[in-house]
Amino acid sequence: MDEPLLQWLRLRESADARARADALTRRIIRVLAARRPVHILDLATGAGSNVRYLALRLPRPQRWLVVDRSGVLLADLRARTANLDIDIEVRKMDLGSLDGSLFEGRHLVTASALLDLVSEAWLRSLARHSRAAGAAVLFTITYNGRSSCDPAEPEDDWIRELLNRHQKRDKGLGGPAEGPDAPATSARCFADEGYLVERAPSNWQLGPDDSAIQRTLIDGWAEAAREVEPEHASAIQDWRERRIAHINERRSHIIVGHDDLAAWLP
Ligand SMILES: C[S@@+](CC[C@H](N)C(=O)[O-])C[C@H]1O[C@@H](n2cnc3c(N)ncnc32)[C@H](O)[C@@H]1O
Repeated sequence: MDEPLLQWLRLRESADARARADALTRRIIRVLAARRPVHILDLATGAGSNVRYLALRLPRPQRWLVVDRSGVLLADLRARTANLDIDIEVRKMDLGSLDGSLFEGRHLVTASALLDLVSEAWLRSLARHSRAAGAAVLFTITYNGRSSCDPAEPEDDWIRELLNRHQKRDKGLGGPAEGPDAPATSARCFADEGYLVERAPSNWQLGPDDSAIQRTLIDGWAEAAREVEPEHASAIQDWRERRIAHINERRSHIIVGHDDLAAWLP
């Protein structure tokens, strides 16, 4: 069941790395100052995309605790982080409710492509635990509900609206997900805990050379839209076929809006 997710995470890793707001990583490096080794917690680490990005940039030595519920993804992570020359403890566990002990002694709490899946209560708990540990935080590639497709199709806005409704469903992380509201809600939760918060865009800019990720994205959007309005399945399929034709003809450009957030205690 996690194989398709693994393929998706592999597909998106380079788009995520290109999109990330480097300035926020540099900001966190300054905040970490002389802390050595750096103790880092990566939540919902999946196959380790965030670890591979940050391991090359954060000061060394690094001690990582990485957590996910999927054994398939964690096995892949183990294989693909073995050459990074970092200390890494891999833990398989459900993060439906956050266990405070994960945070103890961490200088940095981070996650990639996670915050739009979680509820406001979960974000409040995340901010509280991070603060109790005195940790800085860096959250990257949080979907913000904005996207655009070129060439445009008349149904693009409607499909995006259906997708954004789907994004608010409960994903098993503390209740109905924040979805497109996650960037603003997380900024508020960390500010309420006394954090200084900085945000920056990390949009995917996908062109004709990104045809595989574009195809999977359009299929995913169509599936989500169908789940929200099954009575319009045939109109959604029609839209999907036109978008896939644009991709096959190498004329499709898609922007997907994401935000990155860094926060630290004064
Ligand atoms: C969109 S993926 C992001 C993975 C990784 N951070 C990345 O950027 O490639 C979301 C991750 O959340 C994990 N996840 C979802 N619900 C979870 C839960 N309740 N407990 C632990 N992990 C969960 C999934 O297994 C998946 O790895």
